[in-house]
Amino acid sequence: VNLVKVSKQEDFGKVAAYIVSSLVQTSPRAVLGLATGGTPVDLYKELINIFNQGVISFSKVKTFNLDEYVGLPADHPASYRAFMNKHLFDHIDIDMNNTHVPNGQAANPDQECSRYDAMLSESVIDLQVLGIGHNGHIGFNEPADQLMPGTHVVDLLPETREANARYFQSVDEVPAQAITMGVGTIMKSRQILLMVRGADKAEIIHRALTGPITTLCPASLLQLHPNVTVLMDGEAGRLFG
Ligand code: F6R
Repeated sequence: VNLVKVSKQEDFGKVAAYIVSSLVQTSPRAVLGLATGGTPVDLYKELINIFNQGVISFSKVKTFNLDEYVGLPADHPASYRAFMNKHLFDHIDIDMNNTHVPNGQAANPDQECSRYDAMLSESVIDLQVLGIGHNGHIGFNEPADQLMPGTHVVDLLPETREANARYFQSVDEVPAQAITMGVGTIMKSRQILLMVRGADKAEIIHRALTGPITTLCPASLLQLHPNVTVLMDGEAGRLFG
């Protein structure tokens, strides 16, 4: 695991965008795995800046998002489809048909998981962007005795609904379930960029990278991946000296 600590907050998104845009520049048909949440917002902002400078094009890029809530309409402001359109896709030249987010409104969510996996099986993710939950989740693969390799429906843990309540009127409005890519798919991506920001993530990222490899901390599986970069700000990286 390649640890990168950035001391200046304004550099966090820039360093991440450098990694993603270098790939898109050398591989215009790159397949990107994308995350939502607070952590990658600055990455997407900087990618839009780089796109506006005319340095890269996303016209041939394909994207697969990690997850989506079950039951939220796609145009609900807290849906991950709406998040991606707002923070990235609406501002670049990507073909919307090449952007994939699980459909949280599918009548049959299990069928939707199979459909998503079928699409994923036709490509390999070149670069997967990840954040980490306070409980060590990646995507919405929550700590458990067993983890699923492929896309599946997951019951969100109370702490995850609590952490994401900030995007809703109240915690009761946060959907109880999500569709998430499995850890098998995440681990098959060629390269992983795990972004971690803030003092509240210092302990979990330290445990994930230096503690035992266990399904009780899904991010610990990343210790087994051959090409992971962990980008941390000073606060998140505080326990790494
Ligand atoms: C988001 C996702 C989650 C988040 C994690 C951290 O698509 O899959 O694993 O990356 O919950 O979220 P933030 O960045 O909001 O702290």
